[in-house]
Amino acid sequence: HNIESGEFQWSAPSNIALVKYWGKKDNQIPANPSVSFTLNNCKTITKLAFAKKDSSTPLTVINGKFSFDLLFEGKPKEDFKPKIQKFLERIEIYLPFLKDYHFTIDTENTFPHSSGIASSASGMAALAMNLMSIEKALNPEMTDAYFYQKASLLARLGSGSACRSVKGQVVVWGNQANIGGSSDLYGVEFPNAIHDNFKNFQDTILLVDKGEKQVSSTVGHDLMHAHPYAERRFEQAHENLDKLTAIFESGNLEEFIKVVESEALTLHAMMMTSMPYFILMKPNTLQIINAIWKFRNDTKIPVCFTLDAGANVHVLYPENVSGIVLQFIKDELVGFCQNGQYICDEIGNGAIRL
Ligand code: PMV
Repeated sequence: HNIESGEFQWSAPSNIALVKYWGKKDNQIPANPSVSFTLNNCKTITKLAFAKKDSSTPLTVINGKFSFDLLFEGKPKEDFKPKIQKFLERIEIYLPFLKDYHFTIDTENTFPHSSGIASSASGMAALAMNLMSIEKALNPEMTDAYFYQKASLLARLGSGSACRSVKGQVVVWGNQANIGGSSDLYGVEFPNAIHDNFKNFQDTILLVDKGEKQVSSTVGHDLMHAHPYAERRFEQAHENLDKLTAIFESGNLEEFIKVVESEALTLHAMMMTSMPYFILMKPNTLQIINAIWKFRNDTKIPVCFTLDAGANVHVLYPENVSGIVLQFIKDELVGFCQNGQYICDEIGNGAIRL
């Protein structure tokens, strides 16, 4: 198939890890397996237009390896270009057509820019989906299973956690003995049983600090190389994923809370015990954690927190208690958020072609 030009558009969501990916080997191979809830509302929408380079293409463009323009919220965005350039270089062996076309990437997020919510997972996943749509147009016999698997593999090469933003409500990435089909190369929809207690699980994201990240995740992953506790941590992630696999089946929310909160604090403990060391939580992060613990103790409502590599807090709870938990959040937690900002999200299904 020979295609002159065209356009695709995809949305891809963010995701929140329950067992955290922190530490990697070469080629974005994770040091340990991770599992995440796919989000529904926090997403990136990306339009990708492509046109064959031809005799009217300036020689400077033909000579350049990849040729693309980047628009963010409709305006040219030069500072994202090196990251995309690097991504295209990494995936070139998987997508032989990349050099034949000029691309226009037009992207926007549904959540506020610099809200401290990482857009790399949703952004790289949305771009990977679009590129796979071109690959599929050129090779129409491709199966759906292959399409999504390869899209996740490409997304991984953009940003590790992005491979968990392609397909499925609960996604596992990284080899794990008892999880059939799990792979270090791409994320897969969690294949085992999931109890109804986790249906429509809620994630309210409290924006504690919207500033630039103190440590990029690239630097953070690197710090696990000479880390004194790395090997034990990687084993622990396998153990916690086994525990969570049993918890997903039983629906035991008390046990769920223990694993998820311990994973969040361990991620931050790894940063506090690396060299150099970092504290990514803010005073208000701790205020929120303590308030959640008190509320849970007083009410016995199964609400818990998790954290990314930053100060924001994700509040996780089942749908059937969302009324009372949202009231608690408004009454007692919003005061700890920067400008009172928070985002209500919940489990979603993955990327969508628009
Ligand atoms: O995808 P990266 O390289 O930005 O790493 C993300 C790591 C965490 O968000 C902290 C944990 C995770 O598993 O998503």
